[in-house]
Amino acid sequence: MYRTKTCGELRLSDAGQEVTLAGWVQRTRKMGGMTFADLRDRYGLTQLVFNGAVDKDLCDQANKLGREYCIQVTGTVSERESKNSKMPTGDIEIIVSKLNVLSPSLTPPFTIEDNTDGGDELRMKYRYLDLRRAAVRKNIELRHRMTILIRNFLDNQKFIEVETPILIGSTPEGARDFVVPSRMNPGQFYALPQSPQTLKQLLMVAGFDRYFQIAKCFRDEDLRADRQPEFTQVDCEMSFVDQDDVINIFEELCRTLFREIRGVELPKPLEQMTWHDAMRRFGSDKPDLRFGMEFVELKDAFEGKGEFSVFNEAKYIGGICVPGCANYSRKQLNELTDFVKRPQVGAQGLVFIKYNADGTVKSSIDKFYSPETLAEIKQVMGAKDGDLVLILSGDNANKTRVQLCSLRLEMGDRLGLRDKNVFKCLWIIDFPLFEWSDEEQRLMATHHPFTMPNPDDIPLLDEHPEQVRAKAYDFVCNGVEVGGGSLRIHDTQLQERMFEVLGFTRERAEAQFGFLMNAFKYGAPPHAGLAFGLDRFVSILAGLDSIRDCIAFPKNNSGRDVMLDAPGELDPKQLDELNLEVKAHK
Ligand code: AMO
Repeated sequence: MYRTKTCGELRLSDAGQEVTLAGWVQRTRKMGGMTFADLRDRYGLTQLVFNGAVDKDLCDQANKLGREYCIQVTGTVSERESKNSKMPTGDIEIIVSKLNVLSPSLTPPFTIEDNTDGGDELRMKYRYLDLRRAAVRKNIELRHRMTILIRNFLDNQKFIEVETPILIGSTPEGARDFVVPSRMNPGQFYALPQSPQTLKQLLMVAGFDRYFQIAKCFRDEDLRADRQPEFTQVDCEMSFVDQDDVINIFEELCRTLFREIRGVELPKPLEQMTWHDAMRRFGSDKPDLRFGMEFVELKDAFEGKGEFSVFNEAKYIGGICVPGCANYSRKQLNELTDFVKRPQVGAQGLVFIKYNADGTVKSSIDKFYSPETLAEIKQVMGAKDGDLVLILSGDNANKTRVQLCSLRLEMGDRLGLRDKNVFKCLWIIDFPLFEWSDEEQRLMATHHPFTMPNPDDIPLLDEHPEQVRAKAYDFVCNGVEVGGGSLRIHDTQLQERMFEVLGFTRERAEAQFGFLMNAFKYGAPPHAGLAFGLDRFVSILAGLDSIRDCIAFPKNNSGRDVMLDAPGELDPKQLDELNLEVKAHK
């Protein structure tokens, strides 16, 4: 037997027992004739004692142990003289009688401690060492617990887990595909699934009724803190349900996860907000409701009141009231102006009004508006003495709202209002079915082309497609889109019309989605579903800043795995077999 106990389980009640442990040397220290070492495994840390007075050879051996040596020790559990109440095993130590070095270690390139001295890139290169750190490991453990809870919950609800293929044709989720060349079909490529969307719909046609999968998905898109090229969805689909059925079941799943993982009871039912309201009130389809600073529209209030051409020409003027910040300095206000002017935000400028605690008012538009107008604005904004009002304007309402949203979140951060231990979840519903793409110069499906239009809006499909609402819903927590789904079209004709509105020719629709449209001709049941982003869900419940921290082997910001050094070049022979030629790259 390699070990009789783990490094996390011994307590005072075990004193006197002889045990064998195995693990890694976290650190050693010499004190007088004794050597102490902390032995670590997945379960915890245990202090080892090598007593030179009793066994000098053994102690000499211990003095040669380096950090991260993998060792096995046998010894007696004994009560510590100076106890460490911060460690679960802090009441005991092992008086070692036998030491066996299982595997020596080079000096690790960074310390294997919660507060490591290793930078991001180094830790990713040696991810197997990084994963030895308790702080990292605990996120992976939490992820495991969540998937077990999810599987059990869905199993109890009669969902069955079905694996769908990874080598498929292109799936239309709006991102670029990762593709795989086919050796046996020269010149042809598989695409990796952006999600198992069409396959799960086919499983509904097949009568599976309730499907789920913890599914790997691949999207070749620019990376951010909450995006990886390879990520995991909890992907679900159900037959014979309407929107409320889906929302109810998955809200209950979320409730279970928050309760079991964080001991937090979510309100029942969760708030549902229309996309339109979310945009109007927060400038985002994933509003962070942990704090207020709701938008107030000010176009009417400023109308005809002054000579400020920026406001007079704007189609939209919106403000937020930042509580208690009237004392912001010129420097702080300049910082905020620079913030909204950054290309990522893209506003032209920022207007402020300070409603000072002493009742005086100071603003960047004093010379354009009378004190009476600014007093009216105070009322419209619901501002109190001591508050700071920040205003953006523009000629495109939704664009300006999105800019104001960035400012609101920035103020939320500055004021510490985005507490990671507070959770505000809601559903966003009634998304527009289509959105205009500047890049493609055409309407695109907001969600995907299989999403059911709101039946009340179907008459608008031809004349005003942009006004058609979708039967789609997103699950949002703390300003993050954690999941999303929709009712699906199960009628071939309606699906064909959707493709038409999206600008697909009949031939292209047939070539790309013929398999699905054909399947719908064989008694397709009404169906609906949704997918949660597992990485995002775990990182929210773990309080992480980036989903990378809950992925065992993540990619860096350029989509590289720095540990495996992937992607890499192929051998000319491999390229030949695949019928590929690589253009010379600088
Ligand atoms: P959607 O594209 O909204 O829907 O994706 C569902 C959820 O997956 C997560 N997600 C990501 N997580 C990490 N990195 C990424 N690059 C990434 N992209 C998406 C998000 C998102 O809410 N087939 C539909 C679902 C359906 O209609 O049933 C779909 O994929 O948390």
